[in-house]
Amino acid sequence: MKEKVNELKKEALEKIEKVTNLKEINELKVEYLGKKGLVSELSTYLKDLDLNEKREFGMILNNLKTDLNNAIDSKIEYFEEQELNQKLANEEIDITLPSTKILVGSPNILEKVVEDVEEVFMAMGYDVVDGPEVEEDHFNFELLNIPKGHPARDAQDTFYLKGDEILLRSQTSPVQARTMLAAGGDKPIRMICPGKTYRRDADDATHSHQFMQIEGLLVDKKVSLADLKGTFEVVAKQLFGESCETRLRPSYYQFTEPSVEMDISCFACKGKGCNICKHTGWITVSGAGIVHPNVLRNCGYDPEVWTGFAFGFGADRIAMLKYGINDIRTFYQTDLREVDNFDRLEAEN
Ligand code: DAH
Repeated sequence: MKEKVNELKKEALEKIEKVTNLKEINELKVEYLGKKGLVSELSTYLKDLDLNEKREFGMILNNLKTDLNNAIDSKIEYFEEQELNQKLANEEIDITLPSTKILVGSPNILEKVVEDVEEVFMAMGYDVVDGPEVEEDHFNFELLNIPKGHPARDAQDTFYLKGDEILLRSQTSPVQARTMLAAGGDKPIRMICPGKTYRRDADDATHSHQFMQIEGLLVDKKVSLADLKGTFEVVAKQLFGESCETRLRPSYYQFTEPSVEMDISCFACKGKGCNICKHTGWITVSGAGIVHPNVLRNCGYDPEVWTGFAFGFGADRIAMLKYGINDIRTFYQTDLREVDNFDRLEAEN
């Protein structure tokens, strides 16, 4: 019996020694130490032995079990460690490899221009207000002294959404009317309203059916064109630099009287004449004027008591000129090559 045990032990240890992977060693474990394994099989002899023999053989079997278990477990441990090392070696990170570029977003440069303008006006006590992009004809035109059928409407080829009452605002000027009506006709107002505007223009390098205006309105007592000029001068110098000159030219808008165009001296050639200013030395940045008495009246302000000035900047135009962008569509498309460029342009400026 002892011999049988020794033989089995020898054979098992040899097999264990030869094993080459975790799977094989686990199979051996089942073969020898499993419930129906070879060692269990040997214990079936116990029942035929007398008490002394039983004790002795029992001990021998126990020792066999322990020895095989130890041998198998140390192999398992060995293979597991090997597997782990292999895994770690495979997952090793080579920190000398070049990293992958992480794409980060950057603000649209048009937003940057709007923010700059907002900052300058806020410092002068203006509120920044918002208005709806889907607007009523009443606010977009009628309250602004442009009745139905008036030829001034032709200049703003409008997107109508529902009959002839609901439209996409063709200008931010309706926010003037909304602000005056909300103020109730008895308080001074200083506000600007940046926002998207829409016209049925065919898109090309200088036209977009969607564009960005910044409306401004000041209402108070005894406001004159000189106040508008002074305000414009301060704003222009802050936005375009101390050397920036300004001038007003007569113009026509239905909602202002008198109306003007506001020009700045060309920031590229300092007024000498270049491609940007079409060799005039001047760049028009805004329409403006003294709020028409009809508009004040329509919006609840008594024109005998209150006066005001208003203006409308074309934000796209300012951004294009300032950053040398020659296609307005750049602002509204999502070409990442252009968006990446915005960062560079801003850094250079
Ligand atoms: N709304 C005008 C436009 O789209 C711009 C403008 C001109 C706004 C004069 C004004 C203003 O408030 O007084 O062409």
